[in-house]
Parts: sequence; structure tokens; C-alpha cells
Amino acid sequence: MTGEILTLHVGQCGNQVGQQYWSQIAKEHGIGKDGQSVEPDDPNTFREDDTNPFFRRNAQDRYTPRALMFDLEPKVINDAFNNYPGFFDPRNSWVSEEKYGAGNSWAKGYQEGQKSEEHFLNMIDKELDSTENFEGFQLFHSVAGGTGSGLGSNLLETLADRYSKNILTTYSVFPTDQSEVVVQPYNTVLTLRRLAEESDASVIFDNNALLSLSSRVFRGQQIDFSNSNQLIAATLSSVTNSLRFPSYMYTSLQSLVSTLVPSPDLHFLTPSFTPFTSDYVAHEKEYRQNTAYDVLLDLIDGNNSLVSNKNNKPVYFNTFSTLIGTLDRSDITRAISKLQTRLHFAPWSSSVIHVNCGRRSPYLTNKNIGGDYVNGMMLSNSTGVIPLLENACHSFDKIFAKRAFLNTFTQSGMLSDDDSEFIDSRAVAQNIIDQYVTAEETDYLDDILLDDENMTGVLEDVGGQQVDHEGDNII
Ligand code: GTP
Ligand code: MG
Repeated sequence: MTGEILTLHVGQCGNQVGQQYWSQIAKEHGIGKDGQSVEPDDPNTFREDDTNPFFRRNAQDRYTPRALMFDLEPKVINDAFNNYPGFFDPRNSWVSEEKYGAGNSWAKGYQEGQKSEEHFLNMIDKELDSTENFEGFQLFHSVAGGTGSGLGSNLLETLADRYSKNILTTYSVFPTDQSEVVVQPYNTVLTLRRLAEESDASVIFDNNALLSLSSRVFRGQQIDFSNSNQLIAATLSSVTNSLRFPSYMYTSLQSLVSTLVPSPDLHFLTPSFTPFTSDYVAHEKEYRQNTAYDVLLDLIDGNNSLVSNKNNKPVYFNTFSTLIGTLDRSDITRAISKLQTRLHFAPWSSSVIHVNCGRRSPYLTNKNIGGDYVNGMMLSNSTGVIPLLENACHSFDKIFAKRAFLNTFTQSGMLSDDDSEFIDSRAVAQNIIDQYVTAEETDYLDDILLDDENMTGVLEDVGGQQVDHEGDNII
């Protein structure tokens, strides 16, 4: 049985994306905005879902998300309670006493995390009391503001230290190229260091890609964050589909991570999703019927990526897709053969294209498609992530060369002595890029295998994939 997963929402972005995410998965499990069960339209609906990984259920059949919300300012968390009365647990939210945001200062967010560390651990431990087989955490945040990045970084360090045996994943939103705030590149690089060092897998979203996707998907609508957040929520509901509608594969966070992460240095994943039908997002657009074949091929089209992909020919290390809908096995087999000729895999990688046949919730009914259709999500571990990381480093270098705007950080006291935190974080960010570049080479794995420390982990991962390859996976 899938273990319980605790979700942490930090800062404005983390909490706004979170509301959209919980709204989508509650809908898929027939849970209303107040946490009560909703009767399906068809009374003969057969439930195949498992709500336990993401929800607590009480004796009165009320469901509560296993979620914690953190922000320095109250607005977004108040919105969550107002929009979903009775849904979120008020004991699981924290707002700073000052009630002011971190003003885009990573250092301020980080310090607030340090100050409240014991309190946060108590909140988490209380929530974990209601679990029997706790598996891991997923953290939602933006890397560019002050709270999601700084407090989020501090939480990542605390969790990795305190719960080292549990999986730690992040869903991390990167800013647009045109930073709205001049210090965003500092926040991004300081946070990247924590994603590199503490997280087991980080799924990256990029506001550039989200904006352009939003303007296509929601054509004719005024675009704001709520559109982007619907796209993220649709994608994440599919990422977690195999945990919530379990069959016999990919039923744990651990199995998803070991499918996608060949070595700890390569754990930055880029998502794509298509099509955004109205059972996931709010629009009246009509889509044509499609097949698993169409969807799998569309998923490697850069236009369907939630990260701007300026690298037209990425080298892949791993991919994992979930298809949801009316699935024909021969369509999937055909598509996989085609993908195997189109995708360029690193010579050392297994080149397995992992495809999970997900389940569509009976509560999702798309009235805009007359017949059978399929939605698909793909997570890729590839060199496609390099341009985003390079952009972040480049923007950082431009302001750091002049030591510009460092006062926002040094005033906090935490980073006042020297700028080693900035230099070290920049070096870690560079190392992520270098690892991805090196991983294109034939002997990448040999280098790792020579490294005694990493040896066991890599062999186990490779072993897991081989079993997968010959056994249950669709290839
Ligand atoms: P402070 O307000 O500085 O305390 O930190 P915060 O963590 O609350 O900041 P926020 O989450 O607003 O981070 C700013 C970055 O996140 C910018 O790049 C915004 O464009 C982006 N952002 C903010 N809210 C959202 C959202 O709801 N969705 C998306 N996709 N991006 C968001
Ligand atoms: Mg904020």
C-alpha cells in the first residue's frame, strides 16, 4: 500500500499553486470544497482510488489534506480558508507574527525558518502522528521570492536532517527571464543550492513557459497566475495519479524517484502535459478525440513543456509518463518504438521509456469531447534543463559582479560577514550544470562507479530499472 505523503506549501506561489492542486485532486476523489464526500452522478460508480496517501479521514467521513501551509504574510493562507471552508486544518498553517512578507529577501525567509524551526517540527510531527507508513514530503514553492525560497530552503535543510530516511521532493517554480524584482537571481541561486543538496528529486516549472502555454490554452481570457497554476495542478495530479489510483507499478514516491533519478547529481526533472482538457482547467475549448499514440508523441514537443526548452535536441537520461483515458496497448507500443528513434538517450542510460497506464477518476467528466480521449504527462530527466539553470546563473553573475543590492541580504545579519554563501551557492549551481553536461558522455557512469561512495546507490538504481525493464513495464 502507498505510504502517506506530507505536502508543504511555502510562500505566495507555494500556497496559490497548492490551492489549485488540492482543488484538482479533491475533485478527482469526489471530495467537496468543505472536505465532505460528494456523491457521484452515477450511483454505480466503482471507486478504485486510495485517498489515504494525501488525505486524513475522520469518523464523520470528512477528508482533510495532509498539508501544511507556511507564509510570512497572511493573505494567501486566509484565501485558502475562505475559498475552502472546513477543508484545510487550521492547526497546519503558520503565519509570522509580524505578518509582513520577506520582501523578496531569501535571507529574511531563511532566518524566519531558523527562528521557528522547533515550532515547524512540532507541526510536522503532529501531522505525522496520523500516519502509519509515512513515505515522504513534497514541497511547493517559488525559488524567486523571499519566503518560498528562503524559508523553503531552511525547511529543506531541516527535513533532510531530521527525516533523512524519507523521500524529499520539491515542485519548484522558476521566475520569468524578465525578473520582476532585481534580487530574484540571488534568491534563485541560493535556493538552487538547497535543491541540489537536500532534495531527492525536484520537478521544475518555469513561469516563461507557463505564460506562453497559458495564452494558448486559455485563448481569449485575461491571463494571470491562476491560469498557470491550473496547468501546474493538472500536471501534478497526473504525477501523483499512480499513488492515488494504485495498480501494481509506481505506487510509491520512492519508485518514481528511482525510475527517474540515475544518480543524486541528476535529479532535476522537467514536466510536460497535453492536452489541457476542461476536466483539468477552466475553459470551454473543444479538443478532438485522440489516442495514446498521439499523446505520447506530443509530450516530447517543446510546446507542451512546462519549462522553456531552448535546447532543441536534449539528451535524455530517463523519462516517465502517465497516460490517462482510453488506452490501447498497441498504440502505446507503437509510440514507444517511435520515441525510441526520436529521443536521443545518453549512451550509458537504459533508454527505457517508462509508461504508466493511469486511471481516470470517475468524477472527471469532460463534456467537450464527444468520444474517447487520453491525457498524458511526462517527466524527463534530460539536458533540456540546462538552459534554465544557465539563465539563472547568468542573471546572478550580472548583479553579483557589481555586488549590487547585497544590502537587502546583509542587513538581515545572516549574510553580513562575507559573501561566501553567494560564492558557494553559485559554485553548487555550476556543478549541477557541469554534471548534466558530463552526463552526456559515454563513460559518465564509469566515473561514478569509480567513486566508492556512490557505488552502491547507482548499482541498486540500475538494478531496479533492469527488473522494471524486463518485468511489468510497458516497453
Ligand atoms: P515574499 O513575498 O518575498 O515574502 O516571498 P514569497 O515566497 O511569498 O514570494 P512569491 O511566492 O510571490 O515569489 C515570487 C515569484 O513567484 C515570482 O517569480 C512570481 O512571478 C512567482 N509567483 C508568485 N505567485 C505565483 C503563482 O501563484 N503562480 C506562479 N506560477 N508563480 C507565482
Ligand atoms: Mg509573499
